Amino acid sequence: ETIYLKDYKAFGWQIEDVHLTFKLSPDATRVVSKIHFAPNPDAPEQEFFLHGEELNLIRARIDGEAVTPETDARGLRCKVPSGPFLWECEVEIAPESNTALEGLYMSGGMYCTQCEAEGFRKITYYPDRPDVMAVFTVRVEGEMPVLLSNGNLKGKGDGWAEWHDPWPKPAYLFALVGGELVNHPGAFKTMSGKDIELNIWVRPGDEGKCAFGMEALIASMKWDEEVYGREYDLDTFNIVAVDDFNMGAMENKGLNIFNSSCVLASPETSTDGNFERIEAIIAHEYFHNWTGNRITCRDWFQLCLKEGLTVFRDGQFTSDLRSAPVKRIDDVITLRARQFPEDQGPLAHPVRPESFQEINNFYTATVYEKGAEVIGMLKTLVGDEAYSKALDLYFERHDGDAATIEDWIKVFEDSTGRDLTQFKRWYSQAGTPFVEVSEAWEDGTFTLTLKQHTPPSPGQESKAPYVIPIAVGLLGPNGDEVLETQILELTEAEQSFSFEGLAARPVASVNRGFSAPVVLSHDVDRAFLLAHDTDPFNRWDASQGLAKECLLAMITTGAEPDAIWLDGLEHVLRDQTLDPAYRSLMLDLPSASELAQVLADQGVTPDPEAIWAAGDRLVKARAERWKDLLPELAKEAEVTAPYKPDAEQSGKRALGASAATLISRLDGGKAAQARFDSADNMTLQLSALGNLIRVGQGDAALAKFYEQWKDDRLVMDKWFGLQIGASEPEAALDRAEALTQHPDFDWTNPNRFRAVFGALAMHHAAFHHKSGRGYALLTDWLIKLDDKNPQTTARMCSAFQTWKRYDAGRQALIQVQLERIMAKDNLSRDTSEMVSRILAS
Ligand code: ARG
Ligand code: ZN
Repeated sequence: ETIYLKDYKAFGWQIEDVHLTFKLSPDATRVVSKIHFAPNPDAPEQEFFLHGEELNLIRARIDGEAVTPETDARGLRCKVPSGPFLWECEVEIAPESNTALEGLYMSGGMYCTQCEAEGFRKITYYPDRPDVMAVFTVRVEGEMPVLLSNGNLKGKGDGWAEWHDPWPKPAYLFALVGGELVNHPGAFKTMSGKDIELNIWVRPGDEGKCAFGMEALIASMKWDEEVYGREYDLDTFNIVAVDDFNMGAMENKGLNIFNSSCVLASPETSTDGNFERIEAIIAHEYFHNWTGNRITCRDWFQLCLKEGLTVFRDGQFTSDLRSAPVKRIDDVITLRARQFPEDQGPLAHPVRPESFQEINNFYTATVYEKGAEVIGMLKTLVGDEAYSKALDLYFERHDGDAATIEDWIKVFEDSTGRDLTQFKRWYSQAGTPFVEVSEAWEDGTFTLTLKQHTPPSPGQESKAPYVIPIAVGLLGPNGDEVLETQILELTEAEQSFSFEGLAARPVASVNRGFSAPVVLSHDVDRAFLLAHDTDPFNRWDASQGLAKECLLAMITTGAEPDAIWLDGLEHVLRDQTLDPAYRSLMLDLPSASELAQVLADQGVTPDPEAIWAAGDRLVKARAERWKDLLPELAKEAEVTAPYKPDAEQSGKRALGASAATLISRLDGGKAAQARFDSADNMTLQLSALGNLIRVGQGDAALAKFYEQWKDDRLVMDKWFGLQIGASEPEAALDRAEALTQHPDFDWTNPNRFRAVFGALAMHHAAFHHKSGRGYALLTDWLIKLDDKNPQTTARMCSAFQTWKRYDAGRQALIQVQLERIMAKDNLSRDTSEMVSRILAS
């Protein structure tokens, strides 16, 4: 069954208030609801339908009279009075056997919930849609010391607690937690002087891993006040860490629930990358309090209204706290690795989709990351000040609303006077635009001609031109900037922009800061940009462009590595005025998957083995070429101060790790072994271990690492993933197969499942091994997991989304596997939708 945006209809009733009582028990939790409904004056009369799935209905009453509703797999229908009435209902559910991790479930002995998007209907009968908002009062009864729900604590006693959330909210923001938890407390005074109690709740033993998360929370609260003028609005803010969780985290009102991997941190067990990610996710969920909770979405098609904006906001936060250019480069790496393949394959969909079968399949890189890029473009077009004014109006006008993208756009139109009709195409058309740049030079006038084209995507044969903000700067022949960054507004399919009065033909730096999420083709002197560009993003991207050209030549003609590029790069690496983190990013090569896409775009069928071999040859050549430079970099990058996960230290460690990785290719792992043996933080320990595995010297270190960390689930996830990710293709497959038989392979835990299969899917040459072993192994386990956890299964299916890039042999191997999934009995709606979309390409 497909749901369409165009079919939106308001619900026929409003809710005055909701009272819920939970009597917790693993196999027979009782949920009693009392809800005051009244007819919705804005909605035409309809039958009374409440969502409800996998519920055991015990009794229902209307205004005190017992009723017998009609129920089916999707919910319940009942005859109701024409005026206001009180609905009372009791259901029984079994959180212990809830392996889908949606609704109320158990993780490591504790009760917890995940309701977004449509999990509340597995808790009780309710209009489970984001445009129905209500004030909730919740009583939780259970023999546990800690019982939490949304809002403010109203009272508690032996075996019970009562919570009241004064802010009307949709059911997807409901949360409940019960268990033997301990808290890491904190406090925050808001800008208007209110004292807020903060807590991070964890299982006993994890209390030593909360300090960093608490600091990040406080920094987020402060930042949202300073930058967006947004203050927190309850007495308490609680975060809970849960080991079994399908996604990263969830912004439930006043009670954020986190995948433990996205909140728990310590120097011994977490890498610098983990720390940065945790900081960003804590900020993201906190920022949702305004962009998501106070202003929510009218329906799930509007998901990007809260997600795109909140990703954009957490990106601004990270840029402010750490390095803005490094954050921009990191974001573009992710965008190219995850969003572009989605946008250019069978799963392509607009930032605001127009139909779906299972909404959980649309928590995608397109909705989140491209959604954030669209907001970035809007800000670039209107300017910083106009953006702030528009956001003020957005909060003022829509506080308390379940809003739409139309509302959002209208706020910008009203506050800037700009017509955004064409801009709105970014929300409705799928696919990555390709922008082709050509140049002309005559009599001191330099002309750039920009041509845009967006290929067809499923259901969208032809696309109208976008408004594309292209940031451009011009450099003179000796490398100084003759024109500072300007924004060109490309609105036509083809458009020219001229720059007059130039003394000499300039070199154009186009799409600076990645001002638009497009694929650019521009025949430009990249080595010159690598040497001189004042825009740090484009300087990095010039090197990436050269890397791609070099690797493509190596792959297709067996060419030698490009010496001019490597010399230019060496110059950058030796420049100690540049941030070590930035120099480390300069050393990163484009991923194998990205190269495969570039080849496919050029009409060449990518050969994963050849891509792997070329990458390997290039790495070895770099190691040889830079054998004097590398120890110098490693020395410069040494950190002697006590560990801190801040930008400065982690940048140094990143550069040190990049150098060490190359060194390990020269010394057979000798230095890596020493690094591993002396490591006193996880960043160092893990990078050394990866180097050892890569050169075939990892077995002893892996065993030692296992002994050291076997009781720490999050560290063990790294152990599982790294030995696949760091191995040569065939070894990676052998390891993946063996690890699925390992006693610690707890495959019903999403983190552990993803540790193995995420690493396999990301290992391009292993996953696409010509034997088809990678495809078959993943499929075996997807089929197994689908009965237990459809959401995580469906997400992992995207590993196959690029299948049409490859040769007929591989396509045939993949098709067999996709059909094998489709043939499974009782295949979930989630997985069925994903696989059929992939197969349809
Ligand atoms: N709103 C959450 C976030 O972005 C994600 C929750 C998604 N959950 C899901 N089941 N699809 O932070
Ligand atoms: Zn979010």
